[in-house]
Amino acid sequence: MAELAMSDLMFREGLMKGQRILITGGGTGLGKVMAEACLMLGAEVYIWGRRGGVVEDTAKELMDAHGGKVVGMACDIRVPEAIHDAMDQVWAGGPLTGLVNNAAGNFISRTEDLSPRGFDAIANIVFRGSFFVTLDCGKRWLEAGQHGSVVSILTTWVWHGGPFTVPSAMSKAGLNVMTQSLAVEWGNRGVRLNAIAPGPFPTEGAWARLNPGGSTEREKADPTIPLGRTGEMRELANLAVYLLDPGSAYVNGQTIAIDGGSHLQGGGGYSRLASWGDAEWEEARNSIRAANEKDRAQRTV
Ligand code: HXC
Ligand code: NAP
Repeated sequence: MAELAMSDLMFREGLMKGQRILITGGGTGLGKVMAEACLMLGAEVYIWGRRGGVVEDTAKELMDAHGGKVVGMACDIRVPEAIHDAMDQVWAGGPLTGLVNNAAGNFISRTEDLSPRGFDAIANIVFRGSFFVTLDCGKRWLEAGQHGSVVSILTTWVWHGGPFTVPSAMSKAGLNVMTQSLAVEWGNRGVRLNAIAPGPFPTEGAWARLNPGGSTEREKADPTIPLGRTGEMRELANLAVYLLDPGSAYVNGQTIAIDGGSHLQGGGGYSRLASWGDAEWEEARNSIRAANEKDRAQRTV
């Protein structure tokens, strides 16, 4: 089902007219909603995934809802030759203006339980696959002397680690460094790279593997997040459009969290105090005052 109405977007109609955007993993979840937003704003959109039927159905569904052009293509980004062939097909219709590295694989596991193939299953998609897509597209932009914007979908784990999701956290951290490095290496040739670090957004793909047994519907409220809830799809879509569009042309090499403040929770070590009421604060004040008074009574100067 299409997700967005024009009122969900912060931007004027036609903002992305003339833009051509590729979104890996655009058949489902966050990739799909970013594809929808770009389409609604006038961009031509290409979506890749391993399940050809899924990307084709999504393309049709989005075009039925909003018109315009979305092309679904079966492409496995673990295979550099497959990327190159699919990219040839996309560029045959003209240069891309933006790329979203969104495809990913992930599952929770104790790290000691991971086999080499288990590690590779994630790293080959996220770390290697996203790099190969960026490289193939980037070389085309550099050769043609054309501007391009790359947005990679990471996680906040790039800053504080991701226990029980170590291959994903390691791979996303690598893409964070890719973003910073290429922002400098390619910036003066018109190609800029930024990234988004989402907190929890209840998608079927993520919840099945990271929150097994949980329901994407039930878990929109979340008291462990400073804003008290998980993310809304339109919020992520608006940020992606901003970073893709030339309106953000001076933003380069940045990774922007969209997580309701979650990754800052540990800062200072006192986030648990958010649950205190008047009584607890009164008790704390009295206790601190008593300690101060005791010290003051012993002062000799
Ligand atoms: C331990 C596991 C495992 C698990 C798979 N493996 N699941 N090991 N615990 N739960 C191991 C298998 O045993 C096997 O190793 C190896 O991984 C490859 O398994 P396959 O099933 O053959 O892999 P493949 O078909 O390539 O599928 C890749 C996948 C799968 C990553 C495992 O989950 C997938 O296709 N995911 C795509 C979508 C996805 O993950 N979306 C969520 C993104 S959410 P052996 O040695 O046994 O052969 C996300 C959110 C981040 O990233 C932040 C949230 C806040
Ligand atoms: P999702 O629906 O499972 O999306 C993952 C997509 O990647 C799928 O469409 C999948 O399609 C595609 N994909 C996987 N391997 C691929 C490959 N080798 N080649 C091409 N496509 C491939 O999950 P999501 O929640 O929307 O996640 C989207 C992105 O957001 C990911 O980068 C994820 O790490 C990130 N993220 C999500 C959350 C969250 O809470 N949802 C939080 C932080 C970050 P196929 O299986 O058909 O290939």
